[in-house]
Amino acid sequence: MRAIDSVRTADDLQALVERFFRATFSTDNPVITEAVKRMLAAGGKRLRPRITLLAAEACGGKAIEHLHLAAYMELIHVATLIHDDVVDNAATRRGVNATAVDYGNRVSVLAGDYLFAWIFKNVTLNYPHPIPNVLSATLADICDGEVLQLQALGNLDLPLDTYVEIARKKTASLFAASAQCGATMGGGNATEVAALRDFGECFGIAFQMKDDLLDMTADERSLGKPAGNDLTERKTTIPLIAALASGGGRFRAQVRRFYDTAANDAIPAIVDGIEREGGLAATRAQIGRFVERAKSALEPIAARAAKRELIRLTEALQS
Ligand code: IPE
Ligand code: IPE
Ligand code: MG
Ligand code: MG
Repeated sequence: MRAIDSVRTADDLQALVERFFRATFSTDNPVITEAVKRMLAAGGKRLRPRITLLAAEACGGKAIEHLHLAAYMELIHVATLIHDDVVDNAATRRGVNATAVDYGNRVSVLAGDYLFAWIFKNVTLNYPHPIPNVLSATLADICDGEVLQLQALGNLDLPLDTYVEIARKKTASLFAASAQCGATMGGGNATEVAALRDFGECFGIAFQMKDDLLDMTADERSLGKPAGNDLTERKTTIPLIAALASGGGRFRAQVRRFYDTAANDAIPAIVDGIEREGGLAATRAQIGRFVERAKSALEPIAARAAKRELIRLTEALQS
């Protein structure tokens, strides 16, 4: 095995996660195996396993001893992505076809389910309380958040608090669990574990806000997934909520017309309106608030290289 410090780069982590996955994930069904391995191999930022390993190190643990736990966090994420692209009608992911494009919705749902079951089969066998409980509660939160988001589709009066609650459940809960479980297995005391969970939650909310901003400002090539898909799906995300809050009746009427029709050619004009009404700037300000909260949450954690790296990852959400 490599030296602990070299595990920190995303490339090393990716190699370790994939090696673990290749060596251990197999099913009796080649279609399920192939569909899951393909999405894992397509890449991604590997942020959740990184946070697990850094949280373990931040509590004085050794990252190298928690690679499997970190890999399970990425695998949970991959399963949610496979399902999320069915729910969001998204055609691409990580620069390749979404699973549903190549295998159909039915196999995607079942392959994601299989992956969840496979992860929990292993986690319940190998990890002490409360790890399986934390991960089960996280999955419940993710499903809850995704359904709350579906219920909010087309709702131009979605309160910011409800948006944050959806982001907390669908996205931040897995970051919180990744940090919490890393801290627990790294030997953190109750204060450190709670601090890292809190950190993960604030990080995750800022992360989702950034994702929602990028959906309007970046292109498909850089994202590896469809740009503008939130507006296509009539999701009410933070840039729009903020623009509606400060914009006038004309802007609201323009958005209402767009939400009430099936045509998507108005999306560039809607994004221009969101920018004009200050929605992008307000989103950046909210990201900044959650970045500060995430950094404050780390105050009880001793000054170590891992803590500095967590802070660096958090501050990068503002770039
Ligand atoms: C995408 O997560 C899903 C969200 C919670 C917004 P990532 O942006 O971390 O996806 P990958 O792992 O890099 O592909
Ligand atoms: C997804 O949020 C959160 C998950 C539970 C995967 P998004 O729908 O914004 O994520 P992307 O943009 O498809 O990656
Ligand atoms: Mg999506
Ligand atoms: Mg998104």
